[in-house]
Amino acid sequence: MQHLTSQIQLDDVPFRGIVEQSLAGIYVVLDERFMYANDTFAAMFGFPRDEFIGRRLVDCVTPDSVEEVMRNYHLRMSGEVHTIHYYTKGLRRDGSVVQLELHASRVECRGRPALAGVAIDITERVQRREELRRSREQLRELAQHINNAREVERARLAREVHDVLGGMLTSVKMDLGRIARRTGAPDQQELNGIVIDLVALVQETIDTARAISEEMRPTSLDLLGLPAALRQCLERFGHRHAVAVAMTVDGDEAALPETVATQIYRIVQEALTNVSRHAKAARVDLSLHYEPEALELRLVDDGCGIDSGRMRPGAIGLFSMAERAREIGGTLVLGGRPGGGTLVHLHLALKPMPSAPR
Ligand SMILES: Nc1ncnc2c1ncn2[C@@H]1O[C@H](COP(=O)(O)OP(=O)(O)O)[C@@H](O)[C@H]1O
Ligand SMILES: [Mg+2]
Repeated sequence: MQHLTSQIQLDDVPFRGIVEQSLAGIYVVLDERFMYANDTFAAMFGFPRDEFIGRRLVDCVTPDSVEEVMRNYHLRMSGEVHTIHYYTKGLRRDGSVVQLELHASRVECRGRPALAGVAIDITERVQRREELRRSREQLRELAQHINNAREVERARLAREVHDVLGGMLTSVKMDLGRIARRTGAPDQQELNGIVIDLVALVQETIDTARAISEEMRPTSLDLLGLPAALRQCLERFGHRHAVAVAMTVDGDEAALPETVATQIYRIVQEALTNVSRHAKAARVDLSLHYEPEALELRLVDDGCGIDSGRMRPGAIGLFSMAERAREIGGTLVLGGRPGGGTLVHLHLALKPMPSAPR
């Protein structure tokens, strides 16, 4: 290379040809007008080159970009800044907008300061980014809508199960009690045994209905607060799936708005469902750490860990958890744990809540 460059004089390089054929737009601005532009640059504005040259800089950008473009121009003209790389919106001949990425520096031209720059048309890239942003936004809104709708539906079902089904079962139990009181005679021992078994079965059914109702709409959240409700949920989980569980809470418990507490509870429920379905864990630890201005929740299992290669296409559990976290202004991070297993970490900034009268 050294050898080659020493032989070639810069004057020998056919710059003009390179500039004219360049796929990037190339231009020179002198006295706030385009005194040179290659075909590519002129075409970005919808002009043949001859017609473009001589146009004023301010006429070639959208009105809301003029101020910034002129500020950048003067910064370089004054020599304060030599070169600037920035994005702006050009105005095409037909009034449409061309998104441009520019890199221009101060040069000398006819003995005066001028600008020489290179530009690329990034309109498509900006549009694609905008479409992506919009569709992400819609996805988020949809997730939020589904989460809210599920919450309302669960609350309705929980009430039905608790009030209607629970009420009917209680009536059945009371009637059975009345029958049991009349079947105490020695010759009715067999019938009495059946009735007593039935009372036990109905009681078990009542307890199950309560547990289902509680799972769907955790009233324990309102009655006991988040840590106790989570502890109950965790213990039920451990019992049901024969997994060792432990929970620690430290720091000063902060009162949380009901919607926030519900979302946190749902995140833990969903994470526990994942542990039971995927992790093959023997132990689950939940910790709640209250700081003055944040809540850190960590749910750790000692299972097989998340294998990104094995993720079910279309799985939305993790997405929905992250969305719930985002909705309450938190962030959710899932990760592996040294030695295997999975860590679900929710970080939530806490705003001081006016203390509610208890
Ligand atoms: N605690 C966990 N242990 C092991 N794998 C997990 C755990 N949580 C999630 N995964 C993996 O992440 C995937 C996505 O989870 P999720 O979005 O909840 O979908 P789903 O549970 O319906 O499969 C699961 O299919 C599983 O492979
Ligand atoms: Mg899941």
